[in-house]
Amino acid sequence: MLHIPRALRVVFLTLAALLCSTYILLPGQASSDGQKPFLLKDTSAVKKVAVIGAGAAGASTAYFLKDFAEKHDVPVNITVYERNNYIGGRTTVVHAYDDPEEPVELGASIFVQVNKILYDAAIHFELPLVDYEGGSADGADQIGVWNGREFVVVISNGGWWETIKMAWRYGLSPLRLQNLVKKTVGQFLKMYDEPVFPWKSLTQTALDLELTAATSTAALDFLKLNSVYPPFTTDLIQASTRVNYASNLGHISGLVTMVAMSTDNAMAVGGGNWRIFDKMVQTSKAGVLLETGVTNVERKDGGKTWVVNAASSSGDELEDEYDEVVIATPYQFSNITSHSITPPETIKYTNLYVTLFTSPYRLSPKYFKLDKGLVPDMVLSTLPPDEDETTKGVGLTRFWSVNILRVLERKLENGVKRKEYLYKIFSPTYWEDDEILEMIGLPGDASALTWTHRKLWQSYPVEEPRTTFQEARLDFGLWYTAGLEAFISCMETMSLAGKNVAANIVEGWVSERRAAEMPKMPMERDQAL
Ligand SMILES: Cc1cc2nc3c(=O)[nH]c(=O)nc-3n(C[C@H](O)[C@H](O)[C@H](O)COP(=O)(O)OP(=O)(O)OC[C@H]3O[C@@H](n4cnc5c(N)ncnc54)[C@H](O)[C@@H]3O)c2cc1C
Ligand SMILES: *[C@@H]1O[C@H](CO)[C@@H](O)[C@H](O)[C@H]1NC(C)=O
Ligand SMILES: *[C@@H]1O[C@H](CO)[C@@H](O)[C@H](O)[C@H]1NC(C)=O
Repeated sequence: MLHIPRALRVVFLTLAALLCSTYILLPGQASSDGQKPFLLKDTSAVKKVAVIGAGAAGASTAYFLKDFAEKHDVPVNITVYERNNYIGGRTTVVHAYDDPEEPVELGASIFVQVNKILYDAAIHFELPLVDYEGGSADGADQIGVWNGREFVVVISNGGWWETIKMAWRYGLSPLRLQNLVKKTVGQFLKMYDEPVFPWKSLTQTALDLELTAATSTAALDFLKLNSVYPPFTTDLIQASTRVNYASNLGHISGLVTMVAMSTDNAMAVGGGNWRIFDKMVQTSKAGVLLETGVTNVERKDGGKTWVVNAASSSGDELEDEYDEVVIATPYQFSNITSHSITPPETIKYTNLYVTLFTSPYRLSPKYFKLDKGLVPDMVLSTLPPDEDETTKGVGLTRFWSVNILRVLERKLENGVKRKEYLYKIFSPTYWEDDEILEMIGLPGDASALTWTHRKLWQSYPVEEPRTTFQEARLDFGLWYTAGLEAFISCMETMSLAGKNVAANIVEGWVSERRAAEMPKMPMERDQAL
């Protein structure tokens, strides 16, 4: 493993500081009346930062920027621009029956304890953590993996017989997978701490941490190389990559797959995971402009600063100038125009339909070709044997997953309460009411559906294997978080992307200040002599 030793990093930093200060001093001419030259910046002045986007990445940028800047005595003034009328981006809730007491995640729904930033923030902000909502309590099996013809595996609440059956069917593959996940996630976690954090180059960091083998290999091969074999891979690992990343094993990187399998202690914030990001933004003391989309970002002529133009939904136009701009959203969807930005790489995102609905009925055993018993609360999916893992699309099942999130009590007009199930479907295409009704075995009976909500997301990149990544620094004072999405896209990694950008920005300020405080440059002294 290749780490840059601490001592060397200090040398690099000092070098950067020297380069930086010459840059600042060069164009300035000391004027006779004691005014400062216009480019010699008052380094004690407040640093102005624009954060574009208030999802996980933008919220975390603002939060850590404030924190790191305070620790280094740099005054900052942060403005967060958000096109939506809410904070959270792809992490947001809607309300079943439009009842404020029944929030349900429309986007990102779970994280795990090893997700340090989210977990620590939730604890710090004293937000309620709930176990990932699990099913109906009707006594149905917990999880079933459906391939469009049959359930290839059904998992109930454990028990020794279950364990023996699993061991018989899958041999050592589960154990090997566990070790592989542990090893890979262990390497990834080094990105949180010195000497890796804060990193400048994601591509180099992946190499240094020996993660490139995992990022550059499709899960199908990565698993085989590590002696994890079918049917374990096709039954269970693929069910996981399909529900988490809408992808089969042939089209998703080994690294993303390892993360998708790292699901110990899954949890969520009661009331919605967006609350973490809301608290982060509040704590940063940033000025928040909701319903305000940035339209244009340009470098100020001959200067170091950036001019940001935005338009609010009510038609107001805003313009402001910043020392640093953080683009915390996929640039390709931002609708930002610019002459001075070299656009970051455009990557392919997954189109994912989320369909939420409520019904007093369970899924139809007939639809799932069961002679008896209940359909499991969570139906994951995989490909049938005649469609192999290199298949790009969803295949025979036509959905990635369908599950009962929880049981609700619906208040009927006559004051009576009725038990209903709250469901979520992930699918690559629009899931019609008729298709839902078929799934619950009541085709044509529209009254069986009591509430629906649909949303098409560009949910995450198609996580194809790759070796190089879009870097976070786009230009002097211009930063980008979404490059990390092609590495792994989840709330935690995007929070980490924001934290990394924040640390890099503050590191830059600190070395700039150090350089400015240096009484004389050696070169100037030489010239004076
Ligand atoms: C259905 C679904 C399920 C998922 N499940 C999980 C899960 O269980 N666990 C998990 O960890 N992750 C999950 N994810 C992934 C996770 O949601 C994302 O990785 C993460 O939320 C991305 O955060 P972000 O801040 O980078 O981007 P976003 O959340 O997309 O935030 C970007 C923000 O920028 C704003 N914006 C864009 N352009 C402009 C502009 N010009 N001016 C101002 N604002 C602008 C957008 O409105 C948006 O609010 C899921 C995603 C989806 C869609
Ligand atoms: C921060 O900047 C905004 C404008 O960009 C300004 O209105 C506000 O007063 C500043 N806040 C502080 C605390 O300096
Ligand atoms: C962004 O631009 C595209 C193409 O012009 C347009 O279809 C889309 O509605 C715009 N999105 C937003 C949120 O303004």
